[in-house]
Amino acid sequence: MGFSHSHLLGIEHLKQSDIVAVLDLAESYVDLNRRQEKHADALSGLTQINMFFENSTRTQASFEIAGKRLGADVMNMSMGTTSLEKGESLIDTALTLNAMHPDLLVVRHPHSGAVNLLAEKVNCAVLNAGDGRHEHPTQALLDALTIRRARGRLHRLNIAICGDIAHSRVARSNILLFGRMESRIHLVGPSTLIPAGAADWGVEIHEDMQEGLRGADVVMMLRLQRERMDGGFIPSEREYFHRFGLDAEKLGFAKPDAIVMHPGPMNRGVEIDGTIADDINRSVIQEQVEMGVAVRMAAMDLLARNLETPPSGSAV
Ligand code: NCD
Repeated sequence: MGFSHSHLLGIEHLKQSDIVAVLDLAESYVDLNRRQEKHADALSGLTQINMFFENSTRTQASFEIAGKRLGADVMNMSMGTTSLEKGESLIDTALTLNAMHPDLLVVRHPHSGAVNLLAEKVNCAVLNAGDGRHEHPTQALLDALTIRRARGRLHRLNIAICGDIAHSRVARSNILLFGRMESRIHLVGPSTLIPAGAADWGVEIHEDMQEGLRGADVVMMLRLQRERMDGGFIPSEREYFHRFGLDAEKLGFAKPDAIVMHPGPMNRGVEIDGTIADDINRSVIQEQVEMGVAVRMAAMDLLARNLETPPSGSAV
């Protein structure tokens, strides 16, 4: 039973066995990435285009390095400076790129659903690098790999996801992934930052860190996504840190060996205390970045195996 998808648009479309297939292959890339000679040839001869319609440092760098290590020709399009500014639509841009025969298209877009729409218009593999507040599948997969390595399993864990859930595609993809694994998700945050429908997601909701972190194996902190907020969701950053910011005292409510995670970028002193973020005995934030490259290599490798081969004779 292999990974049979032609795109990676969201965790929503993945079965438990698909998730395990990506993580297992990623393990071998973790080993490769720790060697001095880091090249493999799974994407050799293929063209990967990264289209980021939103600013990104780590995700774009991670996809770029992942593609290069696997031998792809990687091109980065920073979409703020292209014809989009001249009024070209997303679809026209995609069709133009499609005509250049890319094999893998990595797309980040501020609108939920934009990446799915694009995938319908092109004939290459599309990977969602984050669309609006909808999904960010490679982030959830890298979080899962980090957790599996730290806790030895993905099943029957208590996972507290804290902070700005309402604007977070990271939270959404993780809820879907850990839902497949029969783990318990606790969402913790002020009611203004918990989305209206969350009660139907099979999660527990808390407005208090002591209650939400009790018995947690994993404490995942989220950034206040101010760029997605259009009003006053919190009284002040100081007050927010006091109630919801992760410090040593609040971490004490979780299990003694609970791990601390954050997808980045971090706002130290707002959602997380700097000393907790840097505590190598508790924080796996750097491991998350490392696992990100390996997971993206695995995802692109699996999708490349499913690329349709052009009819014979069409190759030059
Ligand atoms: C996240 C994102 O872009 O959704 N970051 C990331 O991918 N590294 C979370 C965030 O921006 O807060």
